[in-house]
Amino acid sequence: MNYAQIVGWGYAVPSRVMTNLELEKMVDTTDEWIRSRTGIVERRIAGPKETTSSLGIRAAQHALQVADLSPSKLDLVIVATTSPDYPMPSSAAIVQDGIGATKAGAFDLNAACSGFVYALSVGSGLIASGQYENILIVGADTLSRWVDWTDRATCVLFGDGAGAFVLQKTDSPTGLRSCVLGSDGSGVNALLVPAGGTKSPISLEQIQNRQNFIKMKGPEVYRFAVNVMVQAARQALSAAEMSVDDIDLFIPHQANIRIIQSAMKALKIPPEKVFTNVQHYGNTSAASIPIALCEAIAEGRVHQGSHLALVGFGAGLSWGAAVLHWGVSTTSVPETWWKSMVRNVQTQEEALRLFALKAHRRLELAGLDAFRRLSNGHDA
Ligand code: ACO
Repeated sequence: MNYAQIVGWGYAVPSRVMTNLELEKMVDTTDEWIRSRTGIVERRIAGPKETTSSLGIRAAQHALQVADLSPSKLDLVIVATTSPDYPMPSSAAIVQDGIGATKAGAFDLNAACSGFVYALSVGSGLIASGQYENILIVGADTLSRWVDWTDRATCVLFGDGAGAFVLQKTDSPTGLRSCVLGSDGSGVNALLVPAGGTKSPISLEQIQNRQNFIKMKGPEVYRFAVNVMVQAARQALSAAEMSVDDIDLFIPHQANIRIIQSAMKALKIPPEKVFTNVQHYGNTSAASIPIALCEAIAEGRVHQGSHLALVGFGAGLSWGAAVLHWGVSTTSVPETWWKSMVRNVQTQEEALRLFALKAHRRLELAGLDAFRRLSNGHDA
């Protein structure tokens, strides 16, 4: 039997920190309101050159280094995002190219803030089926680009970032123990960006009406979030034949500390078993659970044999909960000089291969162009 073991992890956030005090100068809000209603103190905001894929690439490079895996060994790249670089192509294609995963397929997955749990489920399933051996899953979002910075009800909530994990085939029973995915599309209007898709393509009128920004019915999403987190966590635990006591650490989607506290109280999970970092990053959407998991590992709260529960919710409305059995050591071993050298050579080899591929494509296009000009000349 095949299992998908997490063997590499990494995250990336922009260096630009935006504090609540800064927001006080932009909209009619206060640090006290934001802290008491959401738990958020600061968030990271992408710089002009940073994108969902550039953050995803940085996170993926860390994850490959921890996994000690050459990018050419990846079979598939899945990027969970709701704020891709372009409507098309996928951000996954840009990440695949950026890390030099020359033999991998790539696609985006959009389940909003639940996206990482969805990607974990899809990636684990493809490995369990025997189709693939190494899959990179990335949760990345730059919602700051879709936030209306004049709307105090939403602009205080979101931040940017990316987290990445390498899943690898193993025959030891580890990785995903259970997973519950859900959707209630009747709640589409509770949280959406109305314009910019095929239903309402971007237009001057849409921009003037600020329809190209996030619109949210906050209290409605709040009620949904608490209920669905409790329900999905219970279902995932029951599917794994486990109870709250068997879980070493809960990693909920980091949207609002009050949502997390209410859900954890209903589940009777003590605060010391819950990881939170919403105070530092705000809601980073699909990146929130992977960033939190990476920070939990760095803080020594995840060990070989640990049982973890991940619970996400978001636009859609969507939700996902998973129980994970952690299979590898999390103690970081400093990279030896020769390993680092081999990795550098491999990375350069992949970069060279990509360069050759791009040069070949350009030459082909130039040849085609010359041929067209020649034939037009003959026709004339
Ligand atoms: N500063 C000061 N006052 C504010 C602010 C602000 N930033 N935002 C709203 N208010 C005001 C409102 O205008 C309202 O004023 P009023 O009573 O005079 O009308 C008052 O505060 C209360 O507003 P509510 O919306 O009822 O406040 P609530 O306690 O529900 O908190 C919040 C709002 C934080 C948005 C909460 O509803 C929430 O967290 N909802 C869930 C949001 C969420 O998690 N979304 C992401 C989902 S994940 C994804 O897919 C991206």
